Amino acid sequence: MSEETQGQDIQQEHQKFIEELGDWTRTHTCAQLTAADDGAEVCLMGWVQYRRDHGGLIFVDLRDREGLTQVVFSPDIAPKAHENAHILRSEYVLAIKGRVRPRPEGMTNPQLPTGEIEVVALEWKLLNTSKTPPFPIEDRTDAGENLRLTWRYLDLRRPRMQANLRLRHKVAQAIRRQLDEDGFLEVETPILTKSTPEGARDFLVPSRLNNGSFYALPQSPQLFKQLLMVGGFDRYFQIVRCFRDEDLRADRQPEFTQVDIEMSFVDENKVMNMAEGLMARVFKDVMNMDLPRPFPRMTWDEAMSRYGVDKPDTRFGMELVDITDIVRGSGFKLFAQARLVKAMKVEGGESMSRKDIDGYTEFVKIYGAQGLAWIKIKADEWQSPIAKFLSEAEREGIRKALDLKVGDIVFFQAGEPDMVNAALGNLRVHLAGRLGLIPEGTFNFLWVTDFPLYEYDEEEKRYVACHHPFTSPAPGHMELMKTDPAHAKARAYDMVLNGNEVGGGSIRIHSGDVQRRMFEALGFTPAQAEEQFGFLLNALELGAPPHGGLAFGLDRLVMLLADAQSIRDVIAFPKTQKATCLMTQAPSPVSSTQLRELGMRLRETETAAEGGKTAE
Ligand code: AMO
Repeated sequence: MSEETQGQDIQQEHQKFIEELGDWTRTHTCAQLTAADDGAEVCLMGWVQYRRDHGGLIFVDLRDREGLTQVVFSPDIAPKAHENAHILRSEYVLAIKGRVRPRPEGMTNPQLPTGEIEVVALEWKLLNTSKTPPFPIEDRTDAGENLRLTWRYLDLRRPRMQANLRLRHKVAQAIRRQLDEDGFLEVETPILTKSTPEGARDFLVPSRLNNGSFYALPQSPQLFKQLLMVGGFDRYFQIVRCFRDEDLRADRQPEFTQVDIEMSFVDENKVMNMAEGLMARVFKDVMNMDLPRPFPRMTWDEAMSRYGVDKPDTRFGMELVDITDIVRGSGFKLFAQARLVKAMKVEGGESMSRKDIDGYTEFVKIYGAQGLAWIKIKADEWQSPIAKFLSEAEREGIRKALDLKVGDIVFFQAGEPDMVNAALGNLRVHLAGRLGLIPEGTFNFLWVTDFPLYEYDEEEKRYVACHHPFTSPAPGHMELMKTDPAHAKARAYDMVLNGNEVGGGSIRIHSGDVQRRMFEALGFTPAQAEEQFGFLLNALELGAPPHGGLAFGLDRLVMLLADAQSIRDVIAFPKTQKATCLMTQAPSPVSSTQLRELGMRLRETETAAEGGKTAE
């Protein structure tokens, strides 16, 4: 008999000990009792973390949401309570009544809030048994993420997950308190709605009552919050689920939560000031930290120039330096002909191995780079595959521009600006992490402002809105929408925290005429604009106030505060990288009846529900 079946047999056998809770009432949590409670009669409820038998005594660490308390079953003090205590196994659910007493000399545990005491069980009830869990319920688990996600409710019992979700709750409550005090109203907007383009694919929901038509799940409540402004609900907020069918990463989920905010009669500064106040409140209430304000600001152009990315991590240096002009006439053709050449110095990085450099070369290829040029600054020479192509003047220029010292290494990237910036900008962050250059426990906020209005979509071969199509062009940039879209700027701003985009927003277009021109610039015919966004265009012509706002990514914010590696660790029931739920097996096939009611039929007969039957 395998250990597991043996375990299950024992568990089956133990079910006869299960009792009803009856009128027992919990008096304390498992983190509450201290030496001050000596002698108190208490009732605790929770899960068995460990059982240890020591001579005649049986010890159980009882765990609940708050912590652990040591319970001791003693044959001398309460023989009846002790009698069956040997059946207790990890994760059995217990209610115990007992008396608090100090732990014996030398047995206290200063790590634990309840470490000074133990509870002597006088009476107990087994409320439920448990099979042997697939992984131990403790922080030091080596269980892989897939196993944890399959048994998520067990994973959620681990102290780390409990702390993360508690932190999330505190952040959400601090946000609600602050916004409520500032006169914001929480209004719910539809989940079954019409597609709002935020740049990702929509999740669609077929309509049973209107066969052939679909709802879209909101990528954000963007249009509804604007319509609330038109509806006179100045100062709205909502902590709201958003849905985006996009490629997933550690900081992206197909459904995620925004703190969505909109205000009327405001400009950028008012929105940004409100957002800073909100962050300051969260940090004060949750972390007891005072954030220095105002947050620094940097234009998008400056961020791209100095850091290569639009969400710079300013906790460390290693800024990118534009050396295009220095190498313009170089004998090194790759540099001479490139539209942009940038360099990045790693101080003292000269000792990097060839293997490390090869690894970084592979890394930058993700961003479309062909390779990675480098130079090591040795005492007597510049060691590098490319140094021989550089003239003395070019070397001098590079040395000065980067303030090079013996012992440094410099990385170079040459080519189209988007690629150069993305490759070096992301390498900068990757390297800083690998080399331990990022200070821990620091929170660097930054506003990135003056975003481009459009970005060029290589796949679609057209300009698309950089933020979203409802963002107002910068003052004086209205004409550029048509004449020079690449240089039109937007009244958009992102809040960046330690290199992560935690929020983004803009001042909106509140004129029907400008909104029509925006749709035109994005390639909509007037009829298409009317068909998709007629309700918005109408609203903008019926007394829309000037308005603007932003949305925070709640999951990302909590991830950073919790120092978690992924937003999955701060979401109770997240999806995998493949957008599946390993616990419920969603998404899953549906019955042919359900499909028929929706007026649908699957194209692939093999994938149809119910054992491969065609869903017709
Ligand atoms: P945006 O698209 O910038 O703006 O989204 C706002 C914030 O939401 C977070 N976020 C995500 N978090 C987890 N998973 C995702 N897939 C994901 N996508 C976005 C980010 C981001 O900063 N309607 C506008 C806001 C506005 O203009 O007011 C919007 O949705 O932290």
